[in-house]
Amino acid sequence: MIALVTGASSGIGAATARRLAREPDCHVILLARRRERLEALARELGRASVIAADLTDPDTPARVAEQVEREHGRLDLLVNNAGVGGRGSFGSSGWAMVRRTMEVNFDAPVRLTEALLPLLRRSAPSAIVNVASVAGRVSRPGSGAYSASKYALVGWTEALQIEERRHGVYVALVLPGFVPTEGLPQRELLANPMTRWMVSKPEKVADAIVDAALRHRPERYVPRPYGIIPVLRMLFPGLYRRAVGGGRFTPTAAHQQPRRGEPPADPPEANSPER
Ligand SMILES: NC(=O)c1ccc[n+]([C@@H]2O[C@H](COP(=O)([O-])OP(=O)(O)OC[C@H]3O[C@@H](n4cnc5c(N)ncnc54)[C@H](OP(=O)(O)O)[C@@H]3O)[C@@H](O)[C@H]2O)c1
Repeated sequence: MIALVTGASSGIGAATARRLAREPDCHVILLARRRERLEALARELGRASVIAADLTDPDTPARVAEQVEREHGRLDLLVNNAGVGGRGSFGSSGWAMVRRTMEVNFDAPVRLTEALLPLLRRSAPSAIVNVASVAGRVSRPGSGAYSASKYALVGWTEALQIEERRHGVYVALVLPGFVPTEGLPQRELLANPMTRWMVSKPEKVADAIVDAALRHRPERYVPRPYGIIPVLRMLFPGLYRRAVGGGRFTPTAAHQQPRRGEPPADPPEANSPER
């Protein structure tokens, strides 16, 4: 099996690469910008290779497709995992943050999938796993840009799932809840004993990604009980707004480090538990 994992230099992507490497005869192609990290992981895994690339570069999708075709001649699994947090209220971060977040979390997986789809169809049965988020089904303050990008990813994936089934390309959606990683450290939830239980692990998401890919599962929440949240949001919208409006689930500057080339997040709100 040839599997390509984007965002493999840290967090959920690195955990997924490690999990895939335990599958018999699986060669993992690791993609992200930080080459040295990918090379260290490739050495650790053994059967792995590296593509250091920025997924927002216009040339990246064609370059990746050409390299995978030339080196392997097939692709059995594409995991669209790379993503950024996109934090900050709209009033402070504006359209620039929405645009940047959409570019990485939505445009990049769509463009990479477009470039690799002919190879995935020729390698059928094959699979695509798109890593969305519970934030792709419910939103919260300070997370509008991120949610917009994940809602878009969810909507596009649901159509692709049905379109590609007849070509033997099984498309899955994995929707993690809160997982402490470099880009999304979830410090506010870990610091609070009332919310610590809500936080999962990258390895659990990796298991769900591999399970969805190999068993052709269309959708997985991680942890599974998070699937109730969008249902509750639909049934009790007022209650949901009160719950997320209190600040407990609002990412703030204290726990959201700005990433390379991104504006800093908002200062803590008056109702933030960290003040
Ligand atoms: N952690 C959570 O709580 C959580 C919850 C729900 C969903 N998710 C989703 O899970 C996925 C993985 O996130 P994570 O939590 O594991 O975060 P992470 O540790 O920050 O990993 C993000 C990965 O994306 C890569 N990346 C970012 N921009 C890129 C670009 N322009 N080109 C190529 N690669 C890029 C990063 O690598 P380089 O910097 O080396 O390029 C890194 O490997 C994301 O889609 C995220 O939205 C996470």
